[in-house]
Amino acid sequence: MSDTQQSVTVIGLGPMGQAMVSTFLERGYQVTVWNRTASKADPLVAKGAVLAATVQEALAANELVVLSLTDYDAMYAILGQATDALAGRVLVNLSSDTPEKARAAAEWAAGHGARHLTGGVQVPPSGIGSPESATFYSGPKDLFEAHQETLKVLTATDYRGEDPGLAALYYQILMDIFWTSMLSYLHAVALADAHGITAEELQPYVASALSSLPNFAGFYTPRINAGNHAGDVDKLAMGAASVEHIVHTTEAAGVDTALPAAVLEVFRRGMAQGHSGDSFTSLVEVFKKAVASA
Ligand SMILES: NC(=O)c1ccc[n+]([C@@H]2O[C@H](COP(=O)([O-])OP(=O)(O)OC[C@H]3O[C@@H](n4cnc5c(N)ncnc54)[C@H](OP(=O)(O)O)[C@@H]3O)[C@@H](O)[C@H]2O)c1
Repeated sequence: MSDTQQSVTVIGLGPMGQAMVSTFLERGYQVTVWNRTASKADPLVAKGAVLAATVQEALAANELVVLSLTDYDAMYAILGQATDALAGRVLVNLSSDTPEKARAAAEWAAGHGARHLTGGVQVPPSGIGSPESATFYSGPKDLFEAHQETLKVLTATDYRGEDPGLAALYYQILMDIFWTSMLSYLHAVALADAHGITAEELQPYVASALSSLPNFAGFYTPRINAGNHAGDVDKLAMGAASVEHIVHTTEAAGVDTALPAAVLEVFRRGMAQGHSGDSFTSLVEVFKKAVASA
């Protein structure tokens, strides 16, 4: 390793960690890796990564330690066996979890003399290494700035603030959109399939429906911001009738109605709360009131 070569440790070699290690290697970094299932390191070692024999060794190899794990519990399972090696390390935790878990992890790391940056990667493994991809970061600003150039090797960076929970929060907010949207897509594919329409035949219409959403968000955002849910463009009662049609069409096709039925239940709650003549955006107010779980 030359004096100028930069180096990093990556712990966690799922699809995401593997993509990160490959990208660091391609960019000339010296990369030390560790994974619970050591064999996952084989293709990376073949490309030049160094497999640490122990977690201690992985932590000792570099100041900067990127974690790419299923969740924060996995971090405790791994780093908990090597707390004596944490002092002076910078943990960049790119594992997904809740804002509360991220805040607790930052405190836990500090208790062992390490510093913690929270990250939320917004792209699949194929997006790692692309400047068009982005990752939310939060935690101490000086720490983020000191390591920003290395982090930019993975994706563009979007620093959200000092609170360690912020990156996780932004990530979860976007995942809320991602999973509900993608489930609606899969439900539509199942409904189409019940009528002999293939996913491939449906795809152009799916693309068109999804690409119309930014326009809706663009139109409604200033109104929501101003607390304006006027029913001048659409009415919740109209939306509820539309969702009912989807439930019935789904039922008639013998397809699972759980998803549109859940949507209809929210529309009906909005109507029961007096929003029938308001826009469907009034459902924001319905969502703000938590429903006691059964
Ligand atoms: N994949 C994506 O498309 C994507 C996109 C954006 C963000 N993310 C986030 O990025 C993170 C990593 O993604 P991924 O797809 O690589 O996830 P993954 O496949 O769930 O990653 C698993 C990694 O966590 C390790 N792990 C899990 N539980 C463990 C435990 N109890 N003890 C020790 N190691 C444990 C696994 O070790 P073993 O190999 O030994 O099982 C593996 O290294 C996740 O938090 C994910 O939410 C993923």
